[in-house]
Amino acid sequence: MKEIFERRSIRKYTSEKVEAEKIKKIVKAGFAAPSCGNQRISHFIIIRDKEILNSIADIHGYAEALREADTAIAVCANLEEELYEGFWVQDCAAAAENILTEAVYLGLGAVWLGVHPKERIIKEVNSILELPEKVKTLSLIALGYPAEEKEASDRYIEAKVHFDKW
Ligand SMILES: Cc1cc2nc3c(=O)[nH]c(=O)nc-3n(C[C@H](O)[C@H](O)[C@H](O)COP(=O)(O)O)c2cc1C
Repeated sequence: MKEIFERRSIRKYTSEKVEAEKIKKIVKAGFAAPSCGNQRISHFIIIRDKEILNSIADIHGYAEALREADTAIAVCANLEEELYEGFWVQDCAAAAENILTEAVYLGLGAVWLGVHPKERIIKEVNSILELPEKVKTLSLIALGYPAEEKEASDRYIEAKVHFDKW
């Protein structure tokens, strides 16, 4: 699937708005991800408010991309819905990767901005997004029409592929 290999972290965006239909498709891709025992505890916060985007950039340290991004999607888990303890991280990571891949398919640029497990960032993002206590954020995905180009990746390393045993 070419989108997997074409995906790169895009941190510069044009001022073009991302259409609401594209955001919906991207979020649908997030929901399509596998989850532990099909617990489906992921929630997605679509952030388009410039003040919120900038205030997350202010506290994060590695999220300057949010200042130019049209939208960010916070990939969260509601632990009230948790059936299989601790697996929320993997569930949300699968959703985040689907979001990134769908963004490429739709001609958008995106970057994964880590939140979990950085305690300070978790706390500050929780406060900015007014999350209930049981909601945890894995990452934010900044999105927009790309204003930079990057080569597709070929990172296959034969020496890291093991057959049957290490
Ligand atoms: C768990 C995780 C956390 C990341 N956090 C950040 C981040 O906070 N800021 C950022 O600019 N990029 C972040 N990235 C993107 C990586 O820096 C990027 O994927 C890596 O350098 C490889 O480059 P590529 O995405 O262009 O292939 C993160 C990626 C992952 C998977």
